[in-house]
Amino acid sequence: MTVRGIHLLGSPVLREAGPPVGVVDDEVRQFVADLFETMAAAHGVGLAANQVGVARRIAVVDAEGERFAMINPRIVEASGKDTAEEGCLSIPEYFAEVTRPERVILEALDEHGVRFRRELAGLPARAVQHEIDHLDGILFLDHLSLLKRQRLLAKWKKEHAGDTSYVLPPQTAEAGSS
Ligand code: NI
Repeated sequence: MTVRGIHLLGSPVLREAGPPVGVVDDEVRQFVADLFETMAAAHGVGLAANQVGVARRIAVVDAEGERFAMINPRIVEASGKDTAEEGCLSIPEYFAEVTRPERVILEALDEHGVRFRRELAGLPARAVQHEIDHLDGILFLDHLSLLKRQRLLAKWKKEHAGDTSYVLPPQTAEAGSS
């Protein structure tokens, strides 16, 4: 398993909608293992392929005991409404309230290519929706009002003006701090 570098806001791959996975093979399983490792090192509750620079429909979630990979995921049912603070490993240290459906039914393939359905609520449901957004090139800030989004982007641009790369170097699980 390899901890991969995480792409930050501004990296074009975060705006790409990846193609579905055709065959779930060993290469895909290796990639899933890397996503889990990278998510754990960054102390995230979810991570999508785009965030490690690969536009393909694969993501992982680890939220409140719900830990799974989802390949070619889709929401088949959504209900309720919930507003909560959301962040993103690709936009570190930025948070905003986002309103989403509170409960979802997810359908996806697991890392063995087996189709599964999962009913989720609360944080795991939010994480799944956030990660599927990533696979479509959508970021949580796209759900904000224009004014809030512009404010966030202006702050980000100012703080990252000197950045020479869109990719955060890989962290080790031991070195992770927050
Ligand atoms: Ni994210």
